[in-house]
Amino acid sequence: MSVDTTHEVATAAASGASATERFHTDKSPFAAVRDTPPERVDALARKVLAAVHATIREERVSYDEYNALKAWMINVGEDGEWPLFLDVWVEHVVEEVNTDHREGSKGTIEGPYYVPDAPERGARGTIAMRDGEAGTPMLWSGQVTSTHGSPLGGAVVELWHADSDGFYSQFAPGIPEWNLRGTFTTDEQGRFEITSIRPAPYQIPTDGSCGKLIAAAGWHAWRPAHLHVKVSAPGHELLTAQLYFPGDEHNDDDIADAVKPELMLAPVDQPDGSITVDYGFVLDPVRA
Ligand code: DHB
Ligand code: FE
Repeated sequence: MSVDTTHEVATAAASGASATERFHTDKSPFAAVRDTPPERVDALARKVLAAVHATIREERVSYDEYNALKAWMINVGEDGEWPLFLDVWVEHVVEEVNTDHREGSKGTIEGPYYVPDAPERGARGTIAMRDGEAGTPMLWSGQVTSTHGSPLGGAVVELWHADSDGFYSQFAPGIPEWNLRGTFTTDEQGRFEITSIRPAPYQIPTDGSCGKLIAAAGWHAWRPAHLHVKVSAPGHELLTAQLYFPGDEHNDDDIADAVKPELMLAPVDQPDGSITVDYGFVLDPVRA
C-alpha cells in the first residue's frame, strides 16, 4: 500500500461522490421498475420495515441511537456513499438470488466502479496503463464458451481493476481516464489474451460515513485484490464476476462477501518476475 496518506485521504473523499455521479449517469434504475405493481412495492417495503422494527424491539434501541442513525444516513447521502454502502453490504445477496439458476461460470458483485465503453483492445492486447505502471506484470489468457460447449467468438470481455495502490481510475483523482480499464473481443475460437498488472487489495474509503460505521463497529475495511470483469455474447446471459489471487489475507473475510472458491485464479510465477494466469468463462444461454 501507498504510505502517501495525503493521496489516500484525497482519494477516499472523492470516490464516494464520483460513484454516486456515475450511478446517475450510467444507469436508469427507475425506468426498469416503472411497471412494478403496488403489491410488490408494498410487500418489499413492509418486510424491510418489519426487520427494522424487530431489531429495535430486540435491541431496545434508545432515542440517542435512533438519532445517531438518522444523522449517519443523512451523512452517507451527503458523502455520496450510498453506492459504496449498498455494494459492500447488500449487493452480494442480490447477485446470489439472480444467478442461482446458472450452469455456467459463477459471478459475483459488480461494485461501484464499473464504467461502460472502456477502450477496445481486440482479442490480444495490453490494457490502458501509465508509463512504468507500478505492479507485477500479468498475462491473462482464456477462452469464452457456451454451456453448450461451443467457443464464443466475438464475445466481449470488459476488465477493470485497481492499481497497485488499490485505487480505481475515474473515481480516485490523479489517475488518467481509462487507466487499467479495457474491452477485449474474443477471436473465432473464443480466445483472448490480456496484458495488465496485478492489482493491490482495496480498502473501503475510511474517511467517509462508511468508514465511520466500520470504525465504530470495530470491523476492517478491506477487500482482497481482485480483477473485475463483465463477459457478454449475443444470446447469452451477461456474466459479472471478480477474480481473486490465492494467499490474499482477506480472501476469507472480504468486507463485501464477494469471494467464491470458483473465482480463485492460479497464477504461475515466471522467471522474469511476471505472472501468467489462465482463466476462462462459460456463459449460460438466455432462458426461453
Ligand atoms: C466496493 C469497492 C470495490 O472495488 C468493489 O469491488 C466492491 C465494493 C465499495 O467500495 O463499495
Ligand atoms: Fe473492486
